[in-house]
Amino acid sequence: MAKIIIIDDDESTRETLTTYLSELNFDTYSADCGKKGIDLVKKINPDLVISDVNMPDINGLEVLRQIKEFDDLIQVIIITAFDDMNTTIIAMQKGAYDYLEKPVDINRLKISINRSLENRKMSQRLESVTPNSSIEYELNNTIVGRSSVMREIYKKIGQASATRITVLIQGDSGTGKELIAKIIHSSGITKDFPFIAINCTAMPETLLESELFGHVKGAFTDAVKDKRGKFELAGEGTIFLDEISEMSINLQAKLLRVLQEHEFERVGGEAVIPMKARVISATNCDLHKLVEKGKFREDLFYRLSVFSIYSPPLRDRRDDIELLVKHFIEKINVTLHKSVRKIPDDVMKMLKMHDWKGNVRELENTLMQAIVLSKGDVLEKENLLLNDIKRDNEQDCLVGGNFKLEIIEKKHIELILKKTDFDIKIASEIL
Ligand SMILES: Nc1ncnc2c1ncn2[C@@H]1O[C@H](COP(=O)(O)OP(=O)(O)OP(=O)(O)O)[C@@H](O)[C@H]1O
Ligand SMILES: [Mg+2]
Repeated sequence: MAKIIIIDDDESTRETLTTYLSELNFDTYSADCGKKGIDLVKKINPDLVISDVNMPDINGLEVLRQIKEFDDLIQVIIITAFDDMNTTIIAMQKGAYDYLEKPVDINRLKISINRSLENRKMSQRLESVTPNSSIEYELNNTIVGRSSVMREIYKKIGQASATRITVLIQGDSGTGKELIAKIIHSSGITKDFPFIAINCTAMPETLLESELFGHVKGAFTDAVKDKRGKFELAGEGTIFLDEISEMSINLQAKLLRVLQEHEFERVGGEAVIPMKARVISATNCDLHKLVEKGKFREDLFYRLSVFSIYSPPLRDRRDDIELLVKHFIEKINVTLHKSVRKIPDDVMKMLKMHDWKGNVRELENTLMQAIVLSKGDVLEKENLLLNDIKRDNEQDCLVGGNFKLEIIEKKHIELILKKTDFDIKIASEIL
């Protein structure tokens, strides 16, 4: 039977909770101040502590800190009449499992107790799937996957990176095109030079032209001094032209010339500048179809796709999901200073079965969200917000191949409202 200690200076709270928890068959103990509470924790080694914040001797947050220092696996739920923003934030940062206000809603407390004890059990039972420390640089510059399609991609990266050949990477949104470009750059002869990425949709044509090729002073109203473009800045490195399908016909002609002649001029300038950079472009459109429709120059398409790599959607390499999950958990732990290392079997199963419309990026974002919400070291099922967003809203989400943040936000709010039975107060706390 799970052991629970209640620490509260208020006698009636202690009594009510003790009675209630004993009825639920928990082994219940109580202390009327922080110090006694901590002594009791050390003596009894409980599964869970429920502690008040304002007490005459030590504050509940200090109690929380000392308990976590003594044994990180002991769960702590803070209950208080004093529910200001700062204490709530600090309590959650210090590893409280939950923070509830008085008078305690007994149903919410019960849910919290069960979840925290479940979390503790999982944590004791499961093995860690990731190491305790990792190198951030390597985590950001590694392609994960052992499926046969990924092995083919590794071979292609090996071939492409040994030369300065022009590469086109095609594949759905979020499948890792930019990552592949970076690895081609950093694993071969370009590695000691810059990698410069530019997104062809992000700006109007004239600005993009000057970003790519630079301009001279006076070339247009805002050109107050000479400026080097990305092709110059990349030197002998790599220039990554992302979303190349969005480039205007006009600029396509200019780019074609650069690729043919290996030289260019700054906008408004006359000096001819040699082009030494290797060009890698990427798109999530079928570029060949755009050529057929007359929206993309055929000659440019052939120039860009001398060497072509296709990055497959995640549904075609489900075998890689487990490895990707472990990899992202490790990466996200480093970024967020969290230590989620254990994954229950059913959670891994859900992740493997899910239809990842947004591919690897969606998987990574889902895990990021779950890890932010996780307490302790277990990836809890309740924090995986998978289903509803995608099921009833995939069309809206995938505008232009990208997830629109405001739609995801709206769906997330709706989901939390549903899950809390439209209790606006609880929903807003969770959100
Ligand atoms: N095989 C992989 N192993 C590890 N991380 C990956 C892998 N594929 C993608 N990622 C990660 O997923 C995220 C999305 O990848 P990336 O930005 O390269 O996708 P993309 O194809 O360029 O997407 P978009 O078309 O939307 O621009 C990045 O954080 C990337 O590091
Ligand atoms: Mg990209």
